[in-house]
Amino acid sequence: MEICQTIDSFRAVLAEARRTGRTIGLVPTMGNLHAGHASLIDRAAADGHFVAVTIFVNPTQFGPGEDFARYPRTPTEDLELCRGHGAAAVFMPTVDEMYGEKGVTTVSVASLTGGLCGRSRPGHFDGVCTVVAKLFNIAGPEAAYFGQKDAQQCAVIARMIADLNFPIRMVICPTVREADGLALSSRNRYLSPAERQQAPQLYAALKLAASMVPQGTTDANRLAAAIADHLARLAPLGKIEYVEIVNPHSLSPVQQVDRPVLAALAVRFDSARLIDNMRVEPEPSGG
Ligand code: PAF
Repeated sequence: MEICQTIDSFRAVLAEARRTGRTIGLVPTMGNLHAGHASLIDRAAADGHFVAVTIFVNPTQFGPGEDFARYPRTPTEDLELCRGHGAAAVFMPTVDEMYGEKGVTTVSVASLTGGLCGRSRPGHFDGVCTVVAKLFNIAGPEAAYFGQKDAQQCAVIARMIADLNFPIRMVICPTVREADGLALSSRNRYLSPAERQQAPQLYAALKLAASMVPQGTTDANRLAAAIADHLARLAPLGKIEYVEIVNPHSLSPVQQVDRPVLAALAVRFDSARLIDNMRVEPEPSGG
């Protein structure tokens, strides 16, 4: 496995792989890798690519007062995981290597980033899009792998790929969960024991809403209210930031579950802000 710190050396490794007929599968991450990231690497490898993982805690997607400084950095364990899952190259640049001193260009997918997480994290998705666009241009991958847990990020990047004509196939992999349903996240480690105990209720609330649809509740407001009520009762240490039922592509609120929708939520505990989501399908109409 090649470990690259500079853009030039990473490009040289990928150029050599391409010369031998390989296609590149890019797995962009911020490190502190867990089984969710491993599933992306596995999928890229299973798709037959030369798997290139990037590990970069991107400062431009953290707002003032967010956890950039304390975001967990575990490079030794990360490299071990990459090696164990068959990654062929890892790119771990410094902030200076990625941004130099003079970066003034920002990629912004305006219409998809005002709601959901964008409301409480202004500028976050501009930071994500800009760094992902840079990584796409650095690596020139055939395919790029992202986790469904970050549903808004997936919708935003899908739109960026389409709008800017990146010749890249985006592959969205299912959320990986703890046995009790909590979606894996590097931020789970911030939770206190009491918060950790309540955190699986995010997934339980989404499952509850999904189970109401086949029983005839298709009104989005009622589903959102059921989720909020479940969280208020069973995860009282968390403050609900949003519960929304939206179109999975445009992220606009929907009124009825008459086609597949995304139920998405964010809950702020004292020590960590958690997000989760679930695709909810309407009942197939009989006949
Ligand atoms: O999902 C993440 O870890 C980050 O937002 C990403 C896509 C690696 C960009 O920094």
